[in-house]
Amino acid sequence: MRINEHYAKLPASYLFPEIGRRVRAYQAAHPDAKVIRLGIGDVTEPLAPAIVEAMHAAVSEMGERATFKGYGPEQGYDFLIDAIREHDYQARGVDIAGDEIFVSDGSKCDSGNIQEIFAVAARVAVTDPVYPVYVDSNVMAGRTPMLIEGNEANGFQPEPPKEPVDVVYLCSPNNPTGTVATRTQLEKWVAWAKANDTVILFDAAYEGYISDPSLPHSIYEIPGAKDCAIELRSFSKRAGFTGVRCAFMVVPKTVTGLDPSGKRVSLNSLWARRHTTKFNGASYVVQRGAAAAYSPAGLQQTNAQIAFYMENARLIREGLTAAGFTIFGGVHAPYVWLRTAGGATSWDFFDQLLDKAQVVGTPGAGFGPAGEGYFRLSAFNSRANIEEALGRIRRVFG
Ligand code: MLT
Repeated sequence: MRINEHYAKLPASYLFPEIGRRVRAYQAAHPDAKVIRLGIGDVTEPLAPAIVEAMHAAVSEMGERATFKGYGPEQGYDFLIDAIREHDYQARGVDIAGDEIFVSDGSKCDSGNIQEIFAVAARVAVTDPVYPVYVDSNVMAGRTPMLIEGNEANGFQPEPPKEPVDVVYLCSPNNPTGTVATRTQLEKWVAWAKANDTVILFDAAYEGYISDPSLPHSIYEIPGAKDCAIELRSFSKRAGFTGVRCAFMVVPKTVTGLDPSGKRVSLNSLWARRHTTKFNGASYVVQRGAAAAYSPAGLQQTNAQIAFYMENARLIREGLTAAGFTIFGGVHAPYVWLRTAGGATSWDFFDQLLDKAQVVGTPGAGFGPAGEGYFRLSAFNSRANIEEALGRIRRVFG
């Protein structure tokens, strides 16, 4: 049996398991250390009561002969798709058809799987630094993504590249830099994509953290985007679903690609074929929970959680600035991006922070070469832990 040789081109381990391995080793050597984890962006607040109630009710339905459900619709139940259409799109002036929405068990899977419908020879670009799944999933398939550098000069929101590509991944609010694309910046990307016949994969997993009403939450708020963009959304950060697992992808029927004979094919029909072949639908109980996030109580409770995390982000921004760090992001995203102290490499800074302050963050280099010299702190934690972590950082670096 010959293995997929492209795996040899990947780093030995995925970023977050590698961080976990290093933290476990540190903790084993320092069993009394109270380590505060601001590394992986994993929510810490419990599920909102409205969601818990809906999931309990759904479990009860599954336990009754009259209301039990087996396989559901592969693309998702109408009750959830209708809520998505109304709250995420119609409310922002965007009309998305029900069969353009594909409910799934997470954006990590969606963003890793979508590349299956591109030609192996497709030219793929990502902004750098970047969520590693976009790059690694393409490398596994034999592609080498082109990197578009984000840096301080462009505010970590790079412009479209000069050379045309077939697919570009954009993420706004951005993971890892916590910066957000303005309407004007997204208009540029859409105009460029349409001019170059490029498909934009727009990851809006963090849109719930946008507080400035002038900023777009969806790429489809930009005219023309329904001809060139696929959008990824997630309940993980929006409704605390990292351990529950539910997301969706919007693939408008008007987004097309070329087959080998040059004929235009709708990506919606390709993705529908892929999704219904390899996925049997997200669980009924989970989809009931996700739909409850759109109820008046669900919205009020999940918005309060987001406000709580964003207050953490504000404390991190202010605490780090007071300690002399140069920081970015953290205003419309739960991530603060900082320049490492004294020009340390990002893994050296990771070790220093762990060793001296017992605080875990994510080294920028783990998100690509342009992340070297930077570091990401997540705002997902208790207020007490955020305050304790900032106190320690100030004592060590301030
Ligand atoms: C992160 O920390 O970058 C995210 O939690 C990763 C993810 O959403 O898969």
